Amino acid sequence: MAVREPDAIALLKQDHREVEDLFEQYEKAKADGRKSKIAEQICSALIAHTMIEEEIFYPAVRGKIEEDTVDEAYVEHDGAKMLIQELMNGSPEDDFYDAKMTVLSEEIKHHVHEEEARSEGMFAQARQAGVDVAELGQQMRQRKQELLAQFKAGGLPQPKTTTFGQMSASAGGVAVPAE
Ligand SMILES: [Fe+2]
Repeated sequence: MAVREPDAIALLKQDHREVEDLFEQYEKAKADGRKSKIAEQICSALIAHTMIEEEIFYPAVRGKIEEDTVDEAYVEHDGAKMLIQELMNGSPEDDFYDAKMTVLSEEIKHHVHEEEARSEGMFAQARQAGVDVAELGQQMRQRKQELLAQFKAGGLPQPKTTTFGQMSASAGGVAVPAE
């Protein structure tokens, strides 16, 4: 008998619990060194998570669930990526660093709710629409392993926004006023 692997929804929920736990650890941490280690784990987990959702899960549910739900999820990710980039390029001794982390955790909490909410949430809609979450789970698990190995070998990539035209979280995308 085949071992039952977590489906796409179970996998994404695991990611959500993992990152919630990391935010809690950050809140309790006192030393800057410890904070910076946890911040790196948070950024890595969120970058991998947003990538597997945007590469695999969102395209698979697009057209099968409410359009607004999918569109808003992309924009929420992009908002989070701006803060992730700030955190990656800063350090816990910087002014506003802890505040940025707190605001990021609040944004993620909202986003997780939108995905996990009973009956109206993205995951519930996907199940109702009969999306093949078992097959997607397999693809996403593979991609996640690949990404985490890449991050380990080559460092964390700067997150790229998908929907923002004026401001981009990719390197060099933010306009700096001329002197
Ligand atoms: Fe997400």
